[in-house]
This record gives sequence, structure tokens and C-alpha cells, in this order.
Amino acid sequence: MRYQEPMLKEGALRDKTIVVTGGGTGLGRSMTRYFLELGANVVITSRKFNILEQTANELVAETGGKVLPVACDVRHYEEVKHMQALALETFGAVHAVVNNAAGNFISPTERLSHRAFDTIVDIVLRGSYNCTLAFGKDWIEKKQAGTFLNISVSYAWTGSGFTVPSACAKAGVLALTRSLAAEWGRYGIRSNAIAPGPFPTEGAWSRLFPEEALPKSLVEKFKPRKRHPPGAGGRASGTGQPGRVPGF
Ligand code: HXC
Ligand code: NAP
Repeated sequence: MRYQEPMLKEGALRDKTIVVTGGGTGLGRSMTRYFLELGANVVITSRKFNILEQTANELVAETGGKVLPVACDVRHYEEVKHMQALALETFGAVHAVVNNAAGNFISPTERLSHRAFDTIVDIVLRGSYNCTLAFGKDWIEKKQAGTFLNISVSYAWTGSGFTVPSACAKAGVLALTRSLAAEWGRYGIRSNAIAPGPFPTEGAWSRLFPEEALPKSLVEKFKPRKRHPPGAGGRASGTGQPGRVPGF
């Protein structure tokens, strides 16, 4: 069965504004598209403004919604505050933040420099708590309800050899989510996480399954689809990527 129907009713997010970090590509772009279809305004942020701008133009043309692209490196709190100020100036309020921005690569851990480890933990964990602090403090001060949706990963529970910085950082994101669900629930702030399994996005696949890193005889064996009992995997809608991503 291929699920095609939207889960939420038309207009379910009308008059809401949602910030999606890493919203220019992959799953962030797919979520943005669906939020727009449901009537939300969306602020998409990442480091590369040209990609954000192109995504914004395409999604506005496809859905008729409003998208504000803002360059923001989530590792730096002052950039997050600047992005927040632009979002508030443009839309008046922000109702939800999707902490989706991430970095990852595959490597034996003993070959990583400490800077390589920092890079992943800074994007994933520091980036998530930077956005959480900026928006959470604002919501609490204004006595406004809000929602965090943090994107974790299924290996946050189990660990994952060869992607250890990501596993550590995503486990931290899970702890952040659970802690604040309890601590900030009283302010009407919801904290949730979703933990996807493999989706063949360009960003993930080019870094996690580089075919050139495997001997030719093993490329077929290690295809993610071969390791999934029904032979399926996630599909990021509206990205045009399924079928074009090598290895899946
Ligand atoms: C080892 C590496 C490396 C690699 C970079 N480094 N790539 N080390 N193996 N493949 C090291 C560098 O040598 C450097 O350390 C340090 O990391 C910082 O590298 P930069 O290139 O300067 O970092 P930056 O420009 O900030 O780029 C960040 C990045 C890049 C993470 C390295 O890949 C990126 O921009 N990624 C964003 C998108 C992404 O990763 N998407 C995938 C998400 S998938 P030194 O010591 O040399 O200074 C995901 C879950 C998938 O998260 C789960 C599937 C089941
Ligand atoms: P992706 O397309 O590479 O998305 C990652 C995004 O993060 C990019 O748009 C990137 O944009 C942005 N980003 C990276 N560093 C940043 C920084 N310092 N500041 C701001 N933005 C930054 O990969 P994806 O597969 O869609 O992943 C999206 C989310 O899903 C991630 O949290 C990932 O961990 C999670 N996930 C993915 C899978 C999968 O199989 N694909 C599985 C489980 C979980 P810039 O380069 O422009 O900054």
C-alpha cells in the first residue's frame, strides 16, 4: 500500500507560523511543503541562502503559501536571534519550531579530529538548543503557547557505529525534548520528537552511503533497501529525489 492521503484536514495550520531549520532541502523541504498546503506561513533557514531562496520560490509557486527564507547558522545564538527577529517582524508571531537542521558523515571514529566531532554536535545539539532557548524564552515571556518538533533518528536509542557524533548529538536532542516536555508543559509549550528511519535524501545519502567508499562487490550488499525486510524506505514528498538517489 502506498499512503497518498494527507493526515490533517485542509486549513489545519491556517494563521500559524512555523520555523523549519534546514528547510531548504530534503525532509525539511518536504515538511515545509506540507505545512504550506495546510495553510501555515513558513520561515525556512539554513546556511545557504541561494538554496533557501530557490526552495521558497518553488514552494510559493506550487502551494500559494507564504515562505520567508532567512540565512542562519544555528550554531551561533546571535544568528538565531536575528532570524527570530525577522520572523516576528514579518509574521507577527511564531507558533512552532522544527529543529531539523543536521550534519552527518560516515567515518571510523578513531579517524575523526576533535573539530569534526564538534562540527556535528554543534549543528545538531547546539543548533537545537539555541533555537529552543530563543523561542522558548520568548513564548514564556509573552505567555504564548508554542510547539517544538525535534527531528531525532532511530539510532538515538541504540547508538550507531561510524556515525558516533550524530548518535551522541541526536540522543542529546531526545533528552532535550523529554526534559522540556516535562519542564515547560506548564507554560503550554509542547516538546515532541520524531525519529525517522532511512530516507534517501541527497544530503543524507551522499554523506552516509558514498559508493566510492565501498569495494564494488559490496555496493549491492550494503544498499539500505537490502537491509530493510519489506525492501522499502522513506520517501521525501515533493523533492523529486526518489528514484534518482544512488544506492537505494
Ligand atoms: C571525517 C570530516 C568529514 C568526513 C568533514 N570532516 N567531513 N571528517 N569524515 N566525511 C571534518 C573536517 O575535516 C573538519 O575537521 C571538520 O569536520 C569540519 O568540516 P567542514 O567541512 O569545515 O565543516 P562545515 O563546512 O561546517 O560542513 C559541515 C559538514 C557537511 C557536516 C561537514 O557535511 C555539511 O554541511 N552537512 C550538512 C548536511 C548533512 O550532513 N546532511 C545529512 C543529514 S542525515 P578538521 O579537523 O579538518 O578541521 C542525518 C541522519 C541520517 O543526520 C540517518 C540515516 C538513518
Ligand atoms: P539534508 O537535506 O542534508 O538536511 C539538513 C539541512 O540542515 C540542510 O538543509 C542544511 O542546509 C541544514 N544545515 C546544516 N548545517 C546547518 C547549520 N549549521 N545551520 C543551519 N542549517 C544547517 O538531510 P535530510 O536527510 O533531509 O535530514 C533532515 C533531518 O532528518 C536531519 O535532522 C536528519 O538528522 C534527520 N534524519 C534524516 C534521515 C534520513 O535518512 N534522511 C533519517 C533520520 C533522521 P545548509 O547546508 O544550507 O546549511
